[in-house]
Parts: sequence; structure tokens; C-alpha cells
Amino acid sequence: MRTERMAAPVLGLETSCDETAAAVLAPDGTVLAEAVLSQPGHAAYGGVVPEIAARAHLAHLPAMVSDVLARAGIAPAGLGAVAASSGPGLIGGLIVGSGFAKGMALAQRLPFVAVNHLEAHALTPRLPGLVKDGLEFPYLLLLVSGGHCQCIAVEGVGRYRRLGGTIDDAVGEAFDKVGKLLGLGWPGGPALERLALGGDPARFALPRPLLGRAGCDFSFSGLKTAVAHVVAQYPAGALPAQDAADIAASFQRAVADTLADRAAHAMAMFAALHRPSSLVVAGGVAANATLRAALERTAGKSGFGFIAPPLRLCTDNAVMVAWAAIERLRLGWADGLDHAPRPRWSLDSADMRPAP
Ligand code: KG4
Ligand code: ZN
Repeated sequence: MRTERMAAPVLGLETSCDETAAAVLAPDGTVLAEAVLSQPGHAAYGGVVPEIAARAHLAHLPAMVSDVLARAGIAPAGLGAVAASSGPGLIGGLIVGSGFAKGMALAQRLPFVAVNHLEAHALTPRLPGLVKDGLEFPYLLLLVSGGHCQCIAVEGVGRYRRLGGTIDDAVGEAFDKVGKLLGLGWPGGPALERLALGGDPARFALPRPLLGRAGCDFSFSGLKTAVAHVVAQYPAGALPAQDAADIAASFQRAVADTLADRAAHAMAMFAALHRPSSLVVAGGVAANATLRAALERTAGKSGFGFIAPPLRLCTDNAVMVAWAAIERLRLGWADGLDHAPRPRWSLDSADMRPAP
């Protein structure tokens, strides 16, 4: 890439799920402007409806991009590159975001960067100013969201080792399903955490799936089913408020114990490969104070530091997309306009780096 381009801001777009987001970052990672819209149209359906998400991205993205560019004080021609989440995620939204970014790149003759959404989460803690003195590779990432639940050794830009992940539901999905059982609406995670505040976490004996098992895989469907059995013992619509709070607290405690155990195993696996470093937690579930506290304790016991980026950078956003693009551009990596968005795109796939 030409050097004057490297000195110009980067526009990042995020459209892989139900957040429409755009951000402009200076080449050193300073956020010049950002916007995130959590699409409101899905709650009535109790989950993200892919077609509604794609249409909403299409409806909101043009004005949002104009807005962030205006607030950053940049004309499209003044950008150095355009990046978009290009997978994994819901394909309709990925097509909208990456198509939009490619159109701008083509019109302005700018490099296009196809960002792996998981890589964007993984590189977030390296954003300047987030961790005192910066965060060097390698470190351990625990990604816990509505769609993802995995442990990844982050060894460099484009260099990831997946140590384990869920064999059924993502942890946020489990919160959402249990929230639904308790009549909390969608998404269930934040409401369930609030309800659990007034509950007794020792009231119901719920399973801790895979606890103590070798490796760092996760499983949450059995825990969710156990909660369903407890709820089914009450007549429909007659779950007393205190019992609901106790179920929420017991479920949250079971998840905390499970995550802490799995993270401890992941840190041991990491320590067999590298010096102990930092455990970074990302994804919407990282908002949960009980889970954060359990993970922080476990990290300390394993001799790891603990990093939880601020929540707005843990949940889906475009700052992380632009930042991942900057990290890749610094290595001279950009993508062709023929790069196809992909619903599945594992972080340890060979094409996370250009062929040597
Ligand atoms: O990262 P995110 O915003 O979107 C993706 O899934 O990509 O994560 C959303 C998920 C939802 O499942 C939501 O219920 C969960 O994160 N969540 C929480 C909390 N806040 C959000 N789960 C537990 N406790 C919370 N406080
Ligand atoms: Zn995400």
C-alpha cells in the first residue's frame, strides 16, 4: 500500500448479526467517530431474524457511514482503506456490509480489508490505551457471546490456535433460553442478571456440564434442560417471583463455576505452549459481573492477568473491525474485491494469513 494511504484513517463496518455499526479510526487506533445501532426489530420474535437484520443493515448503513465520516471530518476520498466484517455471521448482513465497503473501495480506489469478525474481537484489547503499556502477543481469549463460546490462543495477527469451544449452545444462547423459560423477554442475559441479584444461588442444585473434564470444551444444553425441568414443576404461569430469582441465581452460579473451570483448563493448555500471560474476556456475556468476578479469580490463581475491555468494545461494534484492519494493513495485508463473505470462517483456518 502507498505510504500516504497508511497515514490516512480507516473506515470499518460491522453487519454480521443484529448490530449495524460503523467507525472511523486514525492509523494509530484513535477513534475519530463511531456509531452502533442495536436493531430493535427482533425482540418480538425472541431472537435475531436474519432477513430482518439484513434489510435493516441496508436501510441504516448509508446514513450511518455519512454520519461517522462527517463527525470524523473526513471525505470518502480522504480515507486510507475500507474494512468490513466478512464472516462468520449471518450471510445476508455480511453481504450488505462487505458489498457496501467494496463499493466505496472501488469508487475511491482504496484498499479493502475483509475482516474475520472473531479476529476483530480477538485483537480488541490491543487497541491503544486499553491496556496500560499495551498488550503483546501471545494471550488467551475467552469469547463468550450469543453466537460464540470458545477459547483461543492469540499468537499474532492472523495467528490463532483454537483450544476449545462449545459442543452445543453458546453461553449467551443459554442465558437467552433460560431467560425465556423465566418469562424475561429477549435477550435474556441482562434481565437474568438483574433477577439473580435477589436470588439464592444455592437454592437449586443444577449440573456443571464438563466440570473437571480434560480440555476446554463447553456444553450448556444439559444445564438449560435442567432449568426447564425445575420450571416445569410449577403450574404454567405460576412461578413465584422469589423462586424465579433463586432459579436465575442458581443458573448463573452454575455457569460461573463452569466457565471458571473451563478457563482454568484453557490457561493450563496455554501455559504448555507459552509463558502465562493474560486472560482476555470478550463478547456480550462478559457484561455479567458474577461471571467476570469468577474469571478474574481463576486467572489470578493461574498466574494470568485479567483483561475485560469496556462493554461497548466487548459487544459487537465497528471500532474493532477498523482496528483489526489497521493491524492487518500494517503487515501489508489487504483483500481483493472478489473476497466472498462467508457464514462460517474459523480463526484457525489457513487463509487467516496471505500465502507466503
Ligand atoms: O456479543 P453480543 O452483544 O452479540 C453476539 O451474540 O454476537 O452478545 C449478546 C449475548 C446475548 O446472548 C445476551 O443475552 C448476552 O450476550 N448478555 C449477557 C449479559 N448481557 C448480555 N449474558 C449474561 N449476563 C449479562 N449481563
Ligand atoms: Zn461478535
